[in-house]
Amino acid sequence: MSGLRVAVVAGGPSPEAAVSRASAQAVVAALAVFGHQPTLHELDAGLAGRLAEGACDVVFPVTHGALGEDGCLQGLLEVLRLPYVGSPVRASAIAADKPTSKVHFRAAGLPVAKDVVVDSRRDLPGQAATLRQFLGSALVVKPAGGGSAIGVTRIAAHQPDAAVIAALEAALAVDTAVLVEEFVVGRELTCGVLDVEDEGPRALPPTEIASRAADFYDFTSKYAAGGSAHRCPAPLPESVTQTVGDIAVAAFRSVGARDLGRADLILGESGHLVLLELNTLPGMTATSLYPEAAAVAGIGFPELCDRLVQRAFARPRRVVPEVVPMPA
Ligand SMILES: Nc1ncnc2c1ncn2[C@@H]1O[C@H](COP(=O)(O)OP(=O)(O)O)[C@@H](O)[C@H]1O
Ligand SMILES: [Mg+2]
Repeated sequence: MSGLRVAVVAGGPSPEAAVSRASAQAVVAALAVFGHQPTLHELDAGLAGRLAEGACDVVFPVTHGALGEDGCLQGLLEVLRLPYVGSPVRASAIAADKPTSKVHFRAAGLPVAKDVVVDSRRDLPGQAATLRQFLGSALVVKPAGGGSAIGVTRIAAHQPDAAVIAALEAALAVDTAVLVEEFVVGRELTCGVLDVEDEGPRALPPTEIASRAADFYDFTSKYAAGGSAHRCPAPLPESVTQTVGDIAVAAFRSVGARDLGRADLILGESGHLVLLELNTLPGMTATSLYPEAAAVAGIGFPELCDRLVQRAFARPRRVVPEVVPMPA
C-alpha cells in the first residue's frame, strides 16, 4: 500500500522533552524507509490546530512524561478523531501514575515492592522514621508521576534519616505525591511488549541493564554514551525469561495498554521478580531498549515503526453515538 502521512509528535513541557525529540527524529527516519510521509510536530498549544488541518492519516506520539504519555495528548487526539499509536487515555493515565498503576498490578496478582505514598510535607522527620519502620531502612523515593528516574533517590540502610527527608523534599518538588518503596537488591531487567497482532500482546526478549555511570539506572546511565550496558536477551534461565515476559504482558493488560509498552523489573537476590512500572511510550531512538529488543526478536526499527502506524491506522474508528433527544 502507499505510504501514510504520519504526524510524529515530540517534546512538550516535560523534563524528558530532549529525549523525546531524539526518539522522534529516529522514528521519522525509520518511517521514511517504509515509504511513509512523516512530519515532525512539537507538543504545544498550536498542535491541535496543525493536526486539524487534515494533512495526516495517523499520529505517532513519541512523547515521554507529562502531557505526552499521561493521557493528555491522547485525549486531544480522541477529540480530533485522529487514530494514534499507543495506549488510549485511561491506560496512559494509569500507567503514568506509579501508585495508581500499582493498584492495578496488585489486583492482577503481580509482584510489586512494598510501598507507602507520601503526599504531605508535614512532619517529614516523623514520616521518615515511620517509613523506615514499615519498609526497612533502605528505601527508594520516587515522584508518583516521574519518569527517566528524575527525582528518584535510593537510600542505603546506613544513611541517616536526613537523607530520607532530603529525598522526600526533592521528590515533592517534582510531584504532589511521592512513592516510597522498600529497596529491592538485585538485577535490573526491562521487558518490552508488542501488541500489533490479532493474537494479542506478546513479550519481547528481556534485557538486563548494568549501570556504569551511577550505582543505579539514573538519567545519566540511561542516556549518556556508555552510561549503561544492555544485554538482550538477558542471560537468564529459560523459566525466568518466560516469567518476566508473562509479568510484562500481564502488567500491560492490567492497565489496558495498547500497541507497545515496556515493563521495568528487578530480579531480587533470592530469585523473586518485582515489577516496578510500565512505560506506555518507551524511548524510541534506534539504540533504545525497546527497539533493541524488537530487533533481537527479528523486527528491525523501520519495520517496528511501520507495524505500529499500520496497526493504529487500521484500528476501527470510535463510533459517534446518536444523540438522545431531551424528553418533550
Ligand atoms: N524498589 C526499588 N528498589 C531498588 N531500585 C529501584 C526501586 N525502584 C526503582 N529503582 C531504581 O530506580 C530506577 C527508576 O525507577 P522506576 O520505577 O523504573 O521509575 P522511572 O524509570 O519512571 O524513573 C529503576 O530503574 C531502578 O534502578
Ligand atoms: Mg523505569
